[in-house]
Amino acid sequence: MDNNLEEVKAILKKYQQEHLLNNYDKLDDRDKRKLLDQIQNINFELMENLYRNTKKGNKHSEDEITPIDYLDKYKLKDEYKYYENIGKKAIREGQLAAVTMAGGQGTRLGHDGPKGTYDIGLDSHKSLFELLCDNLKQEGKKYGVTIPWFIMTSKENNKDTVEFFEKNKYFGYQKDKNIFFFIQGELPMMDTEGKILIGEDGLIKLAADGHGGIYEALVNSGMTKKMKEMNIKWVFIGGIDNCLAKLVDPVFMGVAIDKNVTVASKSVVKANPKEKVGVFCKRNGKPNVIEYTEITEEMADARDENGELLYGESNILCHLFSVEAIERMGANPLPYHVAYKKAKYINKDGKIVVPDSPNAYKFEAFLFDAFGEVDDMVVLRVKREEEFAPVKNADSVGVDCPSTARELYKKFYNID
Ligand code: UD1
Repeated sequence: MDNNLEEVKAILKKYQQEHLLNNYDKLDDRDKRKLLDQIQNINFELMENLYRNTKKGNKHSEDEITPIDYLDKYKLKDEYKYYENIGKKAIREGQLAAVTMAGGQGTRLGHDGPKGTYDIGLDSHKSLFELLCDNLKQEGKKYGVTIPWFIMTSKENNKDTVEFFEKNKYFGYQKDKNIFFFIQGELPMMDTEGKILIGEDGLIKLAADGHGGIYEALVNSGMTKKMKEMNIKWVFIGGIDNCLAKLVDPVFMGVAIDKNVTVASKSVVKANPKEKVGVFCKRNGKPNVIEYTEITEEMADARDENGELLYGESNILCHLFSVEAIERMGANPLPYHVAYKKAKYINKDGKIVVPDSPNAYKFEAFLFDAFGEVDDMVVLRVKREEEFAPVKNADSVGVDCPSTARELYKKFYNID
């Protein structure tokens, strides 16, 4: 361990992060090794860059943003059947798999555990995972196939997630046969002085690196290889927190196949300029999403000649990729967005600090930033009441919360 320790000290000196060993002597041997290992795995050049970027303000402000074209699923007329048939054939042939991004915790919901384990309060008391799984099973039955399901967890919630599935007998799925788990990446959190934080356990304070890491994680964990072995050609990638998400949609698939695009995404019309959704756009001529945290008021309010919001195609985290596209996207690093969060940490005097306001930077990549790499993308507008019931906040917030999602879910499935 001593050799290692000397090496690590040299690295930390070079990057002025020597404080990371302040509590080293208080750790047991196992954690000592773990900390040294963590430090050796940090890309300090990247962290320095990310810190510098936090001081640069909004680096996207110079970008040219323009509206994006879309297809309206319900205005397709004759092509509807045409696309549907193409999609149905592909699904029957087993070409489709689903990936659910479930790296998040239910913190905003006041739920202590992986978000997917949250019960939105239906009489059935089904969790978000089970609601999505029901959809997969029902659709699979229609086409005589079991649609393979890949679940992205985070280091923080992987164990609890897998245990939850185990307890629920994988809802009829079979582990490592048609349901697979893979873990997304993490990055250290930093304070406003650019110092990496030490968590309460004396180890590096790490946080999930956003869903942009999904491409790399799918490739590095061997999942894309597995998909190819299973003859899967198309992959639906969606979030965990939309209980009306349609993971299997032949029309969506038919459009993607027929137009031979790299990626297809679904949108719904933005309910109002202030709704907390990202919207599809073109950024410097390439497809992208502007997040609700980054859009200007002027842009959010802008309307076209028909009175529709100019940036009104909301991202509902329903994307379809070819397996090759995932592999290509995994090869290029994405930019990181910075979020300013509250994070408990151990200060230089060895004391635990519990902040009551944000004190730390968290760095996250967004999967849609990879869309900039592609020219061939299609946005398919669908009906909100059929496909979008987000569960983001506690009921006290009043929007995108369990009670609103429950109502939408019951209405769609005709439940009293
Ligand atoms: C997200 C979208 C927004 C969209 C809205 C629709 C992003 C950045 N923004 O906002 O454009 O309009 O949903 O409801 O996605 N996740 C991981 N690992 C991570 C981070 C997130 O698996 O490191 C998963 C979450 O479990 C969730 C999804 O990604 O399923 C969305 O994450 P969240 O960060 O909560 O995004 P929103 O702010 O809700």
